[in-house]
Parts: sequence; structure tokens; C-alpha cells
Amino acid sequence: MNFPKANSFPTSVMRERSMGPNPLKLCEELLAYGDIPASSVVLDLGSGAGLTSALLARECGLTVYAADLWSDPSDNMRFFEGLGLTNRQVVPLKADATALPFATGVFDSVVSVDSYNYFGRDPEYLGEHLLPLVKRGGELLLAIPGMVRDCHDNLPACLLASWTPEQLDYMHDMDWWRTNIAQTDGVDILDMREMACTREAWADWIACDNEYAAGDRAAVEAGALDHLNTIAVRLRRR
Ligand SMILES: C[S@@+](CC[C@H](N)C(=O)[O-])C[C@H]1O[C@@H](n2cnc3c(N)ncnc32)[C@H](O)[C@@H]1O
Repeated sequence: MNFPKANSFPTSVMRERSMGPNPLKLCEELLAYGDIPASSVVLDLGSGAGLTSALLARECGLTVYAADLWSDPSDNMRFFEGLGLTNRQVVPLKADATALPFATGVFDSVVSVDSYNYFGRDPEYLGEHLLPLVKRGGELLLAIPGMVRDCHDNLPACLLASWTPEQLDYMHDMDWWRTNIAQTDGVDILDMREMACTREAWADWIACDNEYAAGDRAAVEAGALDHLNTIAVRLRRR
């Protein structure tokens, strides 16, 4: 695949700030499946160290709220400023996805890359905490790390080479996510599909020089990506 937006960031920056499979490539592919109008106000939910927020603001001209629980918003702001982005373009904040400090209907769209599976597995999450913040007709684009087919009853050794059964419980297949999301009123599932860039995004991740990437290498090298995918979900608030 071609990734002009993702590849506009130096590899060194991607490697320093990724917290999982290349979020820039996942984000660029995800955007191609959706329809986020120019100059939308977007919530980047679980934005980590800010890579996807920077892509959305700099490469797409969107106004972005970069909300994340674990990352330091001041560090993210310095990263954005270093790219020439201002607080008119991207606003970082520390926020819990289950207690988002925003008015109802304030966002045109939501993007979430490699994060939704931390909080969205609760089937009540979407309707209670996220959907109300989106305008009617607005889209939510999610890139969720998933399983090709749920195999929690008989986990392959390659997955267990890097992760515990408890960690793998955060990963589910497309049918599981469809059932989870379909329980929410007021949202249409426009599309769900496996993302094409999963292997490439993982290759970029395990080449990173940090202890988390190093820890994931054993599983990937043992064949974990035969069982794992990334699920793109396109939703629209009714
Ligand atoms: C694997 S990292 C991915 C980060 C970033 N999207 C990326 O791809 O580099 C998962 C992110 O989910 C965020 N997260 C987990 N639980 C959260 C919650 N309850 N509210 C907000 N963010 C949460 C963490 O702060 C973390 O940055």
C-alpha cells in the first residue's frame, strides 16, 4: 500500500512515539474507509503519544482533540508544536474514555486507533460514553486490534510466546465486535473489515527500539499474525 500521509513523518519519529503497530499507517488506511469532511472537529480517542492526532491535523486539516489516559498531554503538545502545529489545530488532554469531559454533540467525528479494545469491550460503553458526544450523522472510525477467529478456549502457542491469556482477552474477532456494537441504539454499522496494512504495521512496530516492541517480537516471529488482524469499524450516529 502507499502511505503518503504516514510516510510524511520520519521513521525515527514513528519509532519514538508508536505504542503499537504503526498507528500512522493504520490511521491513513482507516480514513480511506470513512468520510470525515474537511475542517471537521475530531476526537482522537486513545491518541497515545500523538502520532495519529498529528496526522489528522497536519495532513488532513482537521481540528483534533487528542484524548489519552496514559500519555502526558504536555509532552504531546511539545511534539505537536515541533511539527509546527498550534492549539488551533490540535488540543491534547488527559482523559478517561469512560468520563470524557465534553459536551454532547460537540464532535463531528471520532477516530480511535489501537485503543478501543481497552474500554469498548463493555457493550454499554459506546451508547453511554462516546456516541452522545458525536453530532447526528457524524462518523466514528475505529481500528481495533483483533483476532481472525476467537480462539480463547485453545490459545495457540505463538500467541502465548508474548502475551498472557488475560492480555489476549482484549482481542476478539469481527463477529464478536459486531455483536458488541449492535447492542447500542442510535448507531448504524456502515462497514467492518480486516485492514490490509496489519502485517506492515506490525513489522514497523517490532522494529522499534523499546521494551514493549521487543516483548512482542517472539509472538510475531512465531506466527502470531496468522491469528491476529486489525478490524476497521465505520459507524454513523443516527
Ligand atoms: C496501545 S496504545 C495505542 C496508542 C496510540 N493510539 C498508538 O497507536 O500509538 C493504547 C492507548 O489507549 C489508551 N487508553 C487505554 N485505556 C484508556 C481509557 N480508559 N481512556 C483513554 N485512553 C485509554 C492508553 O492511554 C494508550 O495510549
